[in-house]
Amino acid sequence: MEGLSESGALPTPIEDDSSLVSTITAVLFGSPVNTVLTAICAYLVYRIFKGNSPSGAAPAESFKYPPPLPKHNMTLKELSNYDGKADDGRVCVAILGKVYDCTKGRRFYGPDGPYCTFAGRDATRALATFEVNAVKEEWDDHSDLTPTQMSSVQEWEMQFGERYDLVGKLVKEGEENEEEADDEEVSTADKTE
Ligand code: HEM
Repeated sequence: MEGLSESGALPTPIEDDSSLVSTITAVLFGSPVNTVLTAICAYLVYRIFKGNSPSGAAPAESFKYPPPLPKHNMTLKELSNYDGKADDGRVCVAILGKVYDCTKGRRFYGPDGPYCTFAGRDATRALATFEVNAVKEEWDDHSDLTPTQMSSVQEWEMQFGERYDLVGKLVKEGEENEEEADDEEVSTADKTE
C-alpha cells in the first residue's frame, strides 16, 4: 500500500527524518551546479549577518544618520559619492532611473554588506539579472534586458520605493536641471529600518 515501508509498516519518525535529510542533501549537493548555488547562498547569508557584527558597518545604536538629502536629480558621478564609505555613511542606490537613499539598508549595501557593489551605482542590471556584480561604471540604458528581467527589476523598485527615500532621478551628465526631481515629499518617518 502506498505510504507503507517495504515491511508493510508505517515509516517511523526516525526513518522520516533520515529520508528528509537525504532528500535535502541530494537537493543541495546533488549536482555541481546545486553545490555552487548552495555555496553562493550560504556566502550571501553569511555576509548579511556578518554585516551586523562589530567588524562590519557601525552598529545600529551608534550610527548617526546623515540628514535627508534635498530632493534633486543626480548624475552617475554624484551618485558614486554615496557609496557608504564617506564619514556620514550615506548610501544611495539607483534603480530604473530613480535614486534612493538606502542608508537605512547599510547592512546590505554598506562597504561590508553582501550587496556593496550597488552602493553609489545603478543597480538595475544587477537586480534584473540576479547577478550582484552586473553593475556598469558608465551609463546603462538597460535596452538589452528581457521583459522578464524588466518585470523582476520593477518588483525590486517597488520594494525600494516602500522602504527607502526617493532622492530624485538618475540623469546623464549635463542633464541635471532638464527635469526637476519629483516634488512629491517622502516622509522618512514612516519607513521602517
Ligand atoms: C543566492 C542566494 C541569496 C540568498 C540566500 C539571499 C538572501 C537574502 C536575505 C536573507 C536577505 C535579507 C532580507 C531581510 O532581512 O530583509 C537579502 C536581502 C537582499 N537581497 Fe538577497 N539573497 C540571495 C541572492 C541575491 C541576489 C542574487 C540579489 C541581487 C542581485 C539579491 C539582492 C538582495 C537585496 C537587494 C537585498 C536587500 C533588500 C533591502 O534593501 O531590503 N539577493 N537576501
